[in-house]
Amino acid sequence: MNTKLVVGNWKMNGDLTANAALAGSLLLAMGTPRCAVAVCAPMPYLAQMQAILANSPVALGAQDVSSHADGAFTGEISGSMLRDFGVRYVIVGHSERRQYHGETDQLVADKVKQALAVGVTPIVCMGETLAQREAGATEEVVRRQLAAVVHGNGHCISEIVLAYEPVWAIGTGKTASPEQAQKVHAVLRAQLRAATDHAAGVKILYGGSMNAGNAAQLLVQSDIDGGLIGGASLKAQEFLAIIAAADAVAASA
Ligand code: PGA
Repeated sequence: MNTKLVVGNWKMNGDLTANAALAGSLLLAMGTPRCAVAVCAPMPYLAQMQAILANSPVALGAQDVSSHADGAFTGEISGSMLRDFGVRYVIVGHSERRQYHGETDQLVADKVKQALAVGVTPIVCMGETLAQREAGATEEVVRRQLAAVVHGNGHCISEIVLAYEPVWAIGTGKTASPEQAQKVHAVLRAQLRAATDHAAGVKILYGGSMNAGNAAQLLVQSDIDGGLIGGASLKAQEFLAIIAAADAVAASA
């Protein structure tokens, strides 16, 4: 089995003091996890987190990247700027960006391309809304979202990380059941198989109210390779418990 990947998405939370305290508590208690771990900090704190996480088992991530390489794009942050600060992963196409910032499938595919071009691994988010699930459109929606990324990135597709994040489960306390999540992950895996010989190595994370209580049941599913964790990643003990769950699942596999 592949190593699991556990990623914290801090969203627009934290400040210099809180970040140092949270990261400090994580590093103090983490030891050497078997799984890969990353935290995606808000942009202004990348330098702070780069310093704190240096030589630690926790990789640095960002939460967005420009769809352009450089130039007159006021307020945007390029992939090479992220790389300058030691960023290893960048979340792309999170549903909050699709919903509140009008990000389209095409824009998401362009952002993925920019991240890949500079060697930053995009964590590409996809997922259905409650209305889409209730209309039986879940598979169609995620297939369409993945197809745009595959189309725009060709053989590089094996270099990405995917995150299935049902919109109705994000920050709501409602988690997809392990069976619901596994079903969608299997759909995504099959679609990846059609695009690359390396589909088995592409990590597909689950995100949406993952916490210490439900992580193990989700992570044990055959196509769930890790988690993208929002709320629970802001509490050191909770995030550490998810990492421990990922390690326990890997150890028993
Ligand atoms: P949540 O967020 O864990 O708070 O539901 C997950 C995400 O939005 O990445």
